[in-house]
Amino acid sequence: MADIKSESPRATRSLASALTIADLRRLARRRLPRAVFDFIDGGAGDEVTLRDNEAAFRDWVLLPRVAVDVSRRSLRTTILGGASELPLMLAPTGLAGFYWPAGEIAAASAAAAAGVPFCLSTNSVASVEAVAKAVPECERWFQLYFLKDRAWMQALVKRAKDAGYRALCITVDLAVQGRRERDVRNAFTMPLRPHARTVLDLARRPRWLAGVLSSPPRLGNFETSDRSQFTSVAQHVATLFDPSASWDDVARFRDLWSGPVVIKGVLHPDDACKAVAIGADAVMVSNHGGRQLDHVPAPISVLPDIVAAVSGRAEVILDGGVRRGTDILKALALGASACSIGRAFLWGLAAGGREGVGRAIAILRDELDNAMTLLGTARIEDVSATHVRSRQPGNGGMRA
Ligand SMILES: Cc1cc2nc3c(=O)[nH]c(=O)nc-3n(C[C@H](O)[C@H](O)[C@H](O)COP(=O)(O)O)c2cc1C
Repeated sequence: MADIKSESPRATRSLASALTIADLRRLARRRLPRAVFDFIDGGAGDEVTLRDNEAAFRDWVLLPRVAVDVSRRSLRTTILGGASELPLMLAPTGLAGFYWPAGEIAAASAAAAAGVPFCLSTNSVASVEAVAKAVPECERWFQLYFLKDRAWMQALVKRAKDAGYRALCITVDLAVQGRRERDVRNAFTMPLRPHARTVLDLARRPRWLAGVLSSPPRLGNFETSDRSQFTSVAQHVATLFDPSASWDDVARFRDLWSGPVVIKGVLHPDDACKAVAIGADAVMVSNHGGRQLDHVPAPISVLPDIVAAVSGRAEVILDGGVRRGTDILKALALGASACSIGRAFLWGLAAGGREGVGRAIAILRDELDNAMTLLGTARIEDVSATHVRSRQPGNGGMRA
């Protein structure tokens, strides 16, 4: 297995001094070639949704209750019926092994150490079996995309089941890939093809380069289909992914899985109801981190409507733009059972592998603990709609 530990004492010191997720982003930017950093960081079109995902948390303010005994606190909760140390999980993210050697294993290992779920992407570098073998103790979910080759897709689901993944997360917002212009301008490919503009940049990133050269990344789950190597992500999606998938197809794959199922990529309350109708155990409110259709709402802005539509029939997980403990707290107060993080942990991963992901989770944990204490809520179940209100007068107000 490739080395999943941090690179040097200096890197460890930098990680320890990272106080916020924004600090981890800065460290990631230093270590990664520009094209790779942009692939993680960027979004679709004008990146309006990408920015809104973070900014929309500011539309909500927290309403603390004082003189509450918060001396004994717990952040423990359950997500999809499984115990979790935090109302937090690591979102499925493709190509993690391209940002750090054995990146998926490093991230799953950090998730296991922190006691939170980790969701492996269809487009991972390490295969479902490799991650299961390396981190059997991790609460593992598997994320599924709709592929044209349904027989192969079905076989992939069986592989995940056989490898002990507990939950299946079906992503429904990627009929085609969004227009990610940074990737086009950077000519982002895997493996990276050096050209005049990028050679100097690559030369300045010797640590990242050494990691990639020591174990050239491939799409681990696709090795059995001879599709493990590709050029651009857009081309990979256009060749293999199926834009015809409907709710009937989602229902069929739901029925193939005996454990809990999450439908990821829902923004409309009617779609949340459809997910519930086909038996989803959780709805993940998500716009794919602003990487698909630009100008769609930020997940936090539609969360109250989706919580109302689902009406307790399934869990609601908030995914997108989470950078602070207070973001998680707002989502909980608005009815989410947990939050899912993508870039927040990927920046940690790119900055320092397993330790970096651990640092990202620890930052959010410490911020959440501090915020909950000051809000007058000692346990996750104490956080309620009375603790949040819209910043805009007359827009929602304090919810009972
Ligand atoms: C680099 C990157 C790769 C991603 N790959 C996948 C993927 O393979 N499958 C998927 O369902 N979502 C994928 N996503 C979306 C994430 O699961 C998640 O929805 C998003 O990152 C949440 O927004 P955040 O980054 O602001 O937390 C990816 C996101 C990023 C940043």
